[in-house]
Amino acid sequence: MKSLLLLSSLVSYTYSAVVPRAEEQVDYSGFKVVRLELPEANSDIEAQIEELAAHVLNPGKTSHLDVVVAPESVDAVTALVTESSIINEDVGAALAEEGELLIQEVPAESWFTAYHSYADHLTFLRDLQGGFTSQSEIFTTGSSVQGRALTGIHIWGSGGKGSKPAVVIHGTVHAREWISTMTTEYFAWQLLTKYAGNATVKALVDKFDYYIIPVVNPDGFVYSQTTDRLWRKNRQTVSSSSCVGRDINRNWPYKWEVPGGASTNPCSETYKGQTAGDSPENLGLRTQINQLRDSGGVTLYLDIHSYGQYILWPYGYDCNLVVHNDAQHRSLATRAAAAIRAVSGTRYTIGPACATLYATTGDSTDYTDGVGNATYSYTYELRDTGNYGFTLPASQIQPTVRETWEGLVSMVKDA
Ligand code: ARG
Ligand code: ZN
Repeated sequence: MKSLLLLSSLVSYTYSAVVPRAEEQVDYSGFKVVRLELPEANSDIEAQIEELAAHVLNPGKTSHLDVVVAPESVDAVTALVTESSIINEDVGAALAEEGELLIQEVPAESWFTAYHSYADHLTFLRDLQGGFTSQSEIFTTGSSVQGRALTGIHIWGSGGKGSKPAVVIHGTVHAREWISTMTTEYFAWQLLTKYAGNATVKALVDKFDYYIIPVVNPDGFVYSQTTDRLWRKNRQTVSSSSCVGRDINRNWPYKWEVPGGASTNPCSETYKGQTAGDSPENLGLRTQINQLRDSGGVTLYLDIHSYGQYILWPYGYDCNLVVHNDAQHRSLATRAAAAIRAVSGTRYTIGPACATLYATTGDSTDYTDGVGNATYSYTYELRDTGNYGFTLPASQIQPTVRETWEGLVSMVKDA
């Protein structure tokens, strides 16, 4: 009743000191909180106090009232009672101490209708995480040549953080493959925003812990946006050459030394580096894989690239080697390719990486298989087959991320 009274008094009286202009916040600088001891029969005094005060903080309490009062009304208010004390000298200063209100908004699906800057990708990840703080966390694993943290999102389900084996997804190791950033972000967005309302997604999230890094080559990605749209490698130098960049997907320290699947020429697109794992980006990525191997284990690893429409599995370094669970790899890939095709008709070619596409040494999936003990390791090459190539039009982002999501769903269900 009292609070209703207070509300109606706030509505019907114009407190010039506390009514803000449209869209402006009330300025409480200099306002005080005054504690007023009330006499036994007090309804009249209380009404007078309420008229003078901006707010009553403890409506309904009878022995005393704590009121917020403009500096010029303090004397008038305290004159109404015999006993009073100032509890807070400056409400405005207290509000400033409280800190800024952080307004997080979960990104909308329209995010997936355009390509974005690196800074905006980081914001996307933080905003997404901010909407689901009880089942996700931003993590970093090492940093790039130029000092950008390799930043990802960890997503878990009903079992709690870190309780399930890992699904690890890396995007944009090759800077120009922008559709990979969008696709890995879509995976994270789907897993979190659909968890509550979609039983299939809930089951996927409850089954594994997901670690998704949409841009594992941030320096190269930024360079592809500021300077050279078709840049592929990182931005690391070598003293022996003026050429820049190691191919991070030829730098992993597993079968790195095997000849034929990478270049020793710093000017090449597939320059493997001077020694195995000598890029800081690779250090961060392999540290992540090793840690997950040593904790809950890695069930599924995906390295998302473009273009060509392939799903590939180990090995890259030898075209005659067959991985011990080749049949299982093929089975998951077959069903994933069918799931993708069912969405939009997009056809994927599947097979062991070296035999199906070409030889690669020091690539991610050979490492996650050979060193990371991942049960399944795949490279995805997204749309298209060469018509647009790396510069896939923005109009194809949504069709691509939606069909590839079904590939992920299929793999995670089967894994
Ligand atoms: N196109 C990617 C690259 O060149 C993936 C290669 C997949 N592995 C393979 N052996 N073809 O790094
Ligand atoms: Zn690539």
